[in-house]
Amino acid sequence: MSDPVRHPFLQGLSKHRGTPPTVVVIFGASGDLTARKLLPAIYNLAHDNLLPADFHLVGFGRTPVPNAEFRTLAAKAVRDFSRRAPLDAVLDRLSERLTYVAGAYDEPDAFDRLAAHIAEIEKQLGNQVQTLCYISTPPSVFAPVLHHLGSSGLATRHLDGPLHTKVVIEKPFGHDLDSARALNAAIRSVCAEHQVYRIDHYLGKETVQDLLVQRFANAIFEPLWNRNYIDHVQLTVAEELGVGSRGGYYEQAGCLRDMIQNHTMQLLALTAMEPPVSLDAEAVRDEKVKVLQSIQPLHLGPDGDTARAQYSTGMTGGKMVSGYLEEPGIAPDSATETYAALRLSINNWRWQGVPFYLRSGKRLPHRVSEIAIQFKRPPGTLFAAAGERFPLAPNTLAFRIQPDEGLGLVLSGKVPGLETRTQPVQMNFRYAATFGSNTPEAYERLVLDALTGDGTLFIRGDEAEASWRLCTPVLDAWRAQGREGMDTYAAGSWGPAAADALLARSGHLWRQP
Ligand code: NDP
Ligand code: BG6
Repeated sequence: MSDPVRHPFLQGLSKHRGTPPTVVVIFGASGDLTARKLLPAIYNLAHDNLLPADFHLVGFGRTPVPNAEFRTLAAKAVRDFSRRAPLDAVLDRLSERLTYVAGAYDEPDAFDRLAAHIAEIEKQLGNQVQTLCYISTPPSVFAPVLHHLGSSGLATRHLDGPLHTKVVIEKPFGHDLDSARALNAAIRSVCAEHQVYRIDHYLGKETVQDLLVQRFANAIFEPLWNRNYIDHVQLTVAEELGVGSRGGYYEQAGCLRDMIQNHTMQLLALTAMEPPVSLDAEAVRDEKVKVLQSIQPLHLGPDGDTARAQYSTGMTGGKMVSGYLEEPGIAPDSATETYAALRLSINNWRWQGVPFYLRSGKRLPHRVSEIAIQFKRPPGTLFAAAGERFPLAPNTLAFRIQPDEGLGLVLSGKVPGLETRTQPVQMNFRYAATFGSNTPEAYERLVLDALTGDGTLFIRGDEAEASWRLCTPVLDAWRAQGREGMDTYAAGSWGPAAADALLARSGHLWRQP
């Protein structure tokens, strides 16, 4: 085929009938996320014949990159980071569909050139296409990109039909409530909410989607899913890695902004929300917003609802590692937290009186994300009478989001023998054992959903604001305190004493997942 645009890329092979002809534009195409996640995700969709026959990808960035070089870089990124070894034929077909437009993110002419380029692709295809604009730049340029999507007319292409432009925005969505509101206003000034897809990659994880299935496709959970049976809930998103080479970014963010405000709050919303009337995007997001809005403002004084800390030198993965303040790019007097824990109270009929504990941190003992539902203890009368020394263990249901994805249930069982003694025993469902381990990456699911116009696994504007409304006073209080009250924890430990004290005040203990 001499004309690459006319080449029938996967013509007739797309098995996903809902994916319309599309030009994807990646802003920030020379960046880390594009190489490690976006291009491999798009390759894997092509591998599975999930891309439309009329597919084209345009990279956009400040650095001029000839098309041939962009194709070489993209192929290398796929070879380096795809979850499956790429098939040459599929990768070659995809490469033919890549082009690059150079320009600055605040240069109107560059966006006009981009719009003309897309119009030319459309003309050569002889079909209308939807434009999916993926903003994968640092957040400082989100607003100018949005503005010029408006001024160039890209945001309003085919606005009245199914091929309307879609805009995907990477995280972080703002750095506090005011900036999130400003970003929402910038979006609203150029496009409608249904055109926008705010990314939280945790929502694309298989196990996070499974949470909805477990909750609402099984009859046994719902009757117990309330304050009558549940004592408290612990959400843990722990990382073994430190801040690495991302010191510059992390100093401006910290753990609350980087992990709690988005990923961990999303896990909470899915765990605590009411059953939606359908799995339609608006129905699910309405319920998430309602539960986020029901969370009470946090107590911020001493003995309040928060704990924060920085990691200090310690042992992890069998070697000594530096403390946060010694990491590259970190101010020696930094007041940025690498660990945060919150106690949240949801003031609604279902959850009143049930604490939700959230924690996340870098340099914890290992990488693990889980949601643990701890039920109330059963009455101990029978087995206490039989000579038990301790009260019966409470039942715990733990959703293991990653790694070793699955579901564990702790029950009390009888220890074999002539005495009647009980012991906690574990029932385990492991994804890998049942379904194998090569499941799609979060970005594959999210890119496909954006292509097909399904916003269920994306954050709506009011949802982002509800989460920031809760977190911003905490950030303000911590900023005012500076380093005063900043606890430390040894790298490789489960976090600071202040976080243990936070639970101890309600008679609880953190799990060690
Ligand atoms: P990069 O820092 O790699 O930047 C992406 C591209 O944006 C660069 O290649 C560069 O392209 C351009 N760029 C960089 N700095 C500036 C600047 N100051 N002004 C204008 N343009 C700039 O970002 P990532 O790829 O790591 O991340 C992209 C987005 O995805 C960010 O919003 C990030 O928060 C988010 N994200 C990233 C993750 C990751 O693992 N990398 C994980 C989760 C979210 P050029 O010079 O060619 O224009
Ligand atoms: C990103 C954070 O959003 O999520 C990183 O910016 C963090 O700091 C990462 O490491 C964790 O994602 P995952 O999918 O590896 O748990």
